[in-house]
Amino acid sequence: MFAHLKFSIPKRLLALGAISILAVSCGSAPSAFDPRSTNASSIYNLIVVVFIIAAIVFLSVEGVLLYSAIRFSRKTGPGLPDQIEGNSRLEIGWTLLPAVVLLIVFFVMLRVLINLGYQPTSAAAGDVSQIADGAPLHVIVKGHQWWWEFDYPELKIVTANELHVPVNAIVNVDVESVDVIHSYWVPQLGGKMDAVPGHVNHTWFQTTQAGTYNGQCAEFCGIQHADMRFVVVAESQDQFNAWVQGQQAGAPTLSGAAAQGEQIFLSGACVGCHMVNGTKAQGQVGPNLTHFASRSVFAGGILTNTPENLARWLQDPQAVKQGALMPNLHLSQDQISQLVAYLTSLK
Ligand code: CUA
Repeated sequence: MFAHLKFSIPKRLLALGAISILAVSCGSAPSAFDPRSTNASSIYNLIVVVFIIAAIVFLSVEGVLLYSAIRFSRKTGPGLPDQIEGNSRLEIGWTLLPAVVLLIVFFVMLRVLINLGYQPTSAAAGDVSQIADGAPLHVIVKGHQWWWEFDYPELKIVTANELHVPVNAIVNVDVESVDVIHSYWVPQLGGKMDAVPGHVNHTWFQTTQAGTYNGQCAEFCGIQHADMRFVVVAESQDQFNAWVQGQQAGAPTLSGAAAQGEQIFLSGACVGCHMVNGTKAQGQVGPNLTHFASRSVFAGGILTNTPENLARWLQDPQAVKQGALMPNLHLSQDQISQLVAYLTSLK
């Protein structure tokens, strides 16, 4: 029985070690220790400063404790060691010193907090060149069970699960929710911000490096909370301008399977929940699909946008993401492939 235990513990440790290595080696894992925005950097620097202060306090206290335990242990002689009760210099010292340390931490933190709370006011009014000139980009982030909506009111763009921003631009973010409390969080771009129904929270960020950053809902919001993800694409101003142009473009002219798919889409239940600009599909519940094919992910960021995944999703959304609002529409294989042809043409 105990022989069995002897072997099982190292095996568990090995498994734990393997999991940690896997977690670390997973390249796309977002980490607040790899900051890519001005705010994330100041949060990271704060972590380092507070950690160093805490480490100094820990080492000093534990050092004195260990020293005293060894130096004044009973072994070294009979009787009690010198008693220091009533030593006012010592007592004032160990009251003041922690107070000073806490004050330093408080002011260091306050500086970062004030910086994070700064709210760039005016947004670029529908003209992307203003963003290039330094006007903040304005985005309304809406949490839905379980996906993210990104609304650029000045640019008249509504998208889902993929937020595009120009690198180095200041991005003004209004965080809202349509149902329950979510939390908007991109670890490499800044701290968490709660998405509360009926209330607007503000945050902002300024990326310092082009790249794709993973975001995740950080407040338990139901069965698919873990699968409420999104990506932030920070790209050059030119790439962003091209993206804006693509998103503002009208619906493409369709033929063949894509046109048949559009018929199914517009005559079916889809229009009750989804919007495609320029068509009679004006639903507000689900993601706006106007430029669906331009997105890299869908279904709350858990599926890569491929025709295979799309077919799987349309076949039975509940089998992929149990609890999602999209029901199984019991589509035939022909209908699914025509809808896939339609959706993949919405570039
Ligand atoms: Cu939304 Cu957790």
